[in-house]
Amino acid sequence: MEKDDRAGFGTRAVHGARGFVGDTGAVMPPVYLTSTFESGNADGFDYTRSGNPNFRLLESSAASLEGARFATCFASGVSAITAVVSTLKSGDLVLAEENLYGCTYRLFERVFAKFGLRVRYLDMSRTENWAEIGSARPALVWLESPTNPLLKVVDIAGISAVASGVCSPVLVDNTFASPYLQRPVELDATLSLSSTTKYVNGHSDCLGGIVATNDEAWRDRMVFAQKALGLQPSPFDAWLTARGQRTLALRMERHCASALELASWLETRQGVRMVRYPFLRSHPQHDLARRQMKGGSGIIIAELDCSEETALEFCRRLRLFTLAESLGGVESLICHPPTMTHASVPPEVRRKVGIGDGLLRFSVGIEDVADLRNDIDIAMKELIG
Ligand SMILES: Cc1ncc(COP(=O)(O)O)c(C=O)c1O
Repeated sequence: MEKDDRAGFGTRAVHGARGFVGDTGAVMPPVYLTSTFESGNADGFDYTRSGNPNFRLLESSAASLEGARFATCFASGVSAITAVVSTLKSGDLVLAEENLYGCTYRLFERVFAKFGLRVRYLDMSRTENWAEIGSARPALVWLESPTNPLLKVVDIAGISAVASGVCSPVLVDNTFASPYLQRPVELDATLSLSSTTKYVNGHSDCLGGIVATNDEAWRDRMVFAQKALGLQPSPFDAWLTARGQRTLALRMERHCASALELASWLETRQGVRMVRYPFLRSHPQHDLARRQMKGGSGIIIAELDCSEETALEFCRRLRLFTLAESLGGVESLICHPPTMTHASVPPEVRRKVGIGDGLLRFSVGIEDVADLRNDIDIAMKELIG
């Protein structure tokens, strides 16, 4: 199909990553398992570290779905983060949302700090804190929305308007929303980053990352980082990601519907101290979430009224939610942040930022929602009442 940017999201998702099939008639593209290319080829490929037909297919369809001119693919979300941060220099300041994915924080504090990068953390959901963007004129504003794990929602268009006033680029980690629900570049962010390992691929069978932008200079920096730092995916992983991306619209609809149903039910359930989900009225940024996102996505956090040990035992008793890190796949997963993703954070700091002993993060898959609810209900009755 000819590239048609007027086609709907679902159509572009299915038809975007095709081509390069020559005269074979193959409906799906092959995997180009080659490290190098014959010099002088018509498509301009030379070495897979700096480009491969599978990257090009994935990148053009990802750009289309992000509503952006360009996208560059990487080996993982962390590779994509590394690519962006590698463009900064010693002494540069990043103003970052204070609730970030733990490994982003670790990269800032334990890797890039050694090279002189300065990072200041702010609660970006509070508009009074945005003034600091104007006074500090940071080299980069780093947002995540919804955040991992607390599902805070920040105003991408509002912050981008303030940052553009002082020419500070804005990056949004869009992993929890996916481009189906939220497109940061259309909200005037400079860069939209996704760990495609999660919703975009959606099948928990490979890692990947994408950075999308309308800015040609940023695209060039991303292509340079892909090649110079060796951050490229394997052709097979790029192929798997492009395959997963074709069903993104359908999967996200189901994730959103099931998560909203489960979150609403959990709110009424005894023994549950707190439920947070962007499309619940009780969410602190509910109105903003409804304006900025097409759906609430598939992640719910809930705090059970119990000890750390009971919360962990609850996770182990579930049959359909697997106790595992990661999220965004077709299968439901559960994570206990205090003993898993945030185990290295001292308990008093965890409690201060809202990660209590009974906190759970549900990644709601595409199974029948009645079965998921039943699974949770049985484990709760056994342990909490
Ligand atoms: C918000 C967010 N950004 C980035 C990443 C890193 O992605 P990856 O695991 O693909 O390196 C993750 C992983 O969980 C994430 O949740």
